[in-house]
Amino acid sequence: AQDSSQLMLNCFQLLDDPDVKIKLRTQSLVYPALQSLDMDLPSYRENAHFPPLSRSFGVRILSEYFTTDKSLEKAMLFNQHVPVESSYLFQYVNWSSLLPEKFKKGQFYNSPTLGSSQLAKKYPGFLDVRASPLLADDRKLHRLPLTYVITCQYDVLRDDGLMYVSRVRNAGVRVTHNHVDDGFQGILSYHEFKIGHRTQNQYLNWLSENL
Ligand SMILES: *[C@@H]1O[C@H](CO)[C@@H](O)[C@H](O)[C@H]1NC(C)=O
Repeated sequence: AQDSSQLMLNCFQLLDDPDVKIKLRTQSLVYPALQSLDMDLPSYRENAHFPPLSRSFGVRILSEYFTTDKSLEKAMLFNQHVPVESSYLFQYVNWSSLLPEKFKKGQFYNSPTLGSSQLAKKYPGFLDVRASPLLADDRKLHRLPLTYVITCQYDVLRDDGLMYVSRVRNAGVRVTHNHVDDGFQGILSYHEFKIGHRTQNQYLNWLSENL
């Protein structure tokens, strides 16, 4: 990864591009990474050491979308990378209000510690909606097509997906959510596990009903 969010493409870029004439029918998000603002979500806490994606490895991959400069990775590990002038963005990734009760399990929401503006000036990508679809406001989310989301219980990225389901539903978009209770990051690639087949079949059934 070299620089910034151009490496990623999300639904908004297709919706906002005047040269794209096709009308999107559905979007599917498979245990997705949807934000790099709050690295202290309950799913990051609970699954910090769960293979194949530990918290530290996840943070490294996310930070390397924006830069190989280790200072961003380090600030993200301490969850101190968002500057005060961007603190309003935390409302869009506030797990205290966006997670269903059973996933909060008595955990406490820590208000984020704010960091220096310098990192954000140098690497603004991590605050960009193109890299973090959860940072879209409700008006923007409202334009999304029919949505399918897979989340897995034992996955640092679980709460990204769960918060996205809440936000997109609140914005009036139809969402089918498959939460895999015994799932972990990457299950669709593990063909030796039944759980991968099961999840894949559920998804293919949904596609054939909705395309
Ligand atoms: C997050 O949500 C909680 C509860 O809804 C609220 O008390 C808190 O102020 C919010 N924090 C941020 C940063 O939005």
